[in-house]
Amino acid sequence: MTSKQLTSNQKNLLILFGVIVPTTVAAIVYLQAAGITDDNLNMLLRLTARISFMIYLVVFVARPMRELFANITTKWLLRERRSLGIAFAAMHTVHLGLIAYRFNTIPGLDYEPSNSIVGGTAYALLYLMLITSFDAPARALGPKSWKRLHKIGLYYIGLIFVSTLLPDPGDEIFTLERAWFVLLTASAIFIRLTAYFARRKKN
Ligand code: HEM
Repeated sequence: MTSKQLTSNQKNLLILFGVIVPTTVAAIVYLQAAGITDDNLNMLLRLTARISFMIYLVVFVARPMRELFANITTKWLLRERRSLGIAFAAMHTVHLGLIAYRFNTIPGLDYEPSNSIVGGTAYALLYLMLITSFDAPARALGPKSWKRLHKIGLYYIGLIFVSTLLPDPGDEIFTLERAWFVLLTASAIFIRLTAYFARRKKN
């Protein structure tokens, strides 16, 4: 069956499970081989979060890139933005699974309530966005509320990502790892702002 024959709901499910299943299997294989330790679980948490972050940035710039550069790539990017959003939700679902597994496996763990509220709200928004990426819930919500929900979710989740870029007290300020993410995030914000001001100038 080609992707042309799939309904949009089937395509969503294919992407969702097509990301969750292999990522979960890879995480289990890695933990079996390397050992179920807090360090290894944190490494997988960082990896799933960083892959999600990369997907998030592409979703974040899809529309402004189309507005600024009308070509075949940006056309595809905008058309597939929802699929990328589903892939993001799938990868972050594995992040959530790892959080739950770590909580149940590593004794004495204590997540700060404030962090859990902020993270929990992000997950609530993420799953509302995921559910309303399917046809019937999107129709039930209506286009105006749909747009509002997805905009709020996009910015809220983006703010959490930005907050993870800030060094913790005592951390080295400049690390090559952080510099890459800061550069990519700053570029994405720059692209969005440029498209925003270009739109305003036109109107
Ligand atoms: C209650 C919810 C959450 C908990 C308990 C949690 C927990 C964790 C943990 C334990 C790590 C590994 C930390 C380390 O080794 O330094 C991590 C990494 C990360 N998480 Fe989450 N997380 C949550 C939700 C989220 C959400 C909603 C986002 C983004 C929208 C997110 C983004 C990240 C990022 C970007 C990293 C990697 C940070 C780095 O590169 O150092 N997390 N998370």
